[in-house]
Amino acid sequence: MNQNTTKTVLLLGANSDVAKQCIKQYIQNGFSVIAASRNTKSLDHFVQENNLNSKVTVLSFDSVDFDSHQKFYNDLPVKPHIVVYAAGFLVDNEKALSDFKGTQQMMLVNYMGAVSILNIIATDVNNKNLERIIGLSSLSGVRGRKSNFVYGSTKAAFTTYLAGLRQELVSRNIKVNALVIGYIRTKINEGLQLNKSLIMEPAYVARHIVNAGNSFTIVPNFKWKIIYLILKVLPENLVAKLP
Ligand SMILES: NC(=O)c1ccc[n+]([C@@H]2O[C@H](COP(=O)([O-])OP(=O)(O)OC[C@H]3O[C@@H](n4cnc5c(N)ncnc54)[C@H](OP(=O)(O)O)[C@@H]3O)[C@@H](O)[C@H]2O)c1
Repeated sequence: MNQNTTKTVLLLGANSDVAKQCIKQYIQNGFSVIAASRNTKSLDHFVQENNLNSKVTVLSFDSVDFDSHQKFYNDLPVKPHIVVYAAGFLVDNEKALSDFKGTQQMMLVNYMGAVSILNIIATDVNNKNLERIIGLSSLSGVRGRKSNFVYGSTKAAFTTYLAGLRQELVSRNIKVNALVIGYIRTKINEGLQLNKSLIMEPAYVARHIVNAGNSFTIVPNFKWKIIYLILKVLPENLVAKLP
């Protein structure tokens, strides 16, 4: 990896189907990538299969192993210019209501793990490289709805954290973006019945991540933008009628 001229992206939860597409696209755009995942074996395989070895460093990272986060950050081969938090966990709402283990894991991965590592990254004032932090959040976090409010509440918390972090980092000219995403064809959704006309491909969503601009909220896809805007303003009694 050329540490002097090339900018570096740190992808946290890099074995995600969306993050893998980000790896490819960031490299196409001239970046080096540190791909951090709890499943380094699968990620190594992906890197080799796609001939990306010279541009990607694979590291072990577990979002819920909070005690390891400071050392993980200290040991990075180069401090990142861009950080993407892509790790996510989902159990369906019915299961989440009856089995706290699944609920707890969503809280840990989607919110607590993100805050733990991003606090460390964001408060390192010695990292003059840092330009941007991007979090992958969800439309499910915009309003509480009966079909998915447990997962949704972890994403709402994450979005709120990112909004405050953006304000916190303005003075250092570091941008923060929240990707507010609808359905994507990825393994997190395996087995779920989703409206086919609304499903996006991972590469399409990755393009919105890699090309993130100044807006805090980024909602990929025109249909999802409309849904997002409606959800934002809908009175609570009408939200209650939604699934
Ligand atoms: N797919 C959607 O419809 C959708 C919609 C809105 C938002 N999102 C969000 O988008 C992000 C990417 O998800 P995806 O759609 O690409 O699904 P995905 O392929 O299932 O990716 C989720 C990733 O999170 C990783 N992860 C889970 N627990 C972890 C932990 N403790 N430490 C580190 N990594 C962990 C998983 O690792 P393993 O590979 O080891 O399992 C997996 O690679 C997630 O935050 C998800 O919540 C997805």
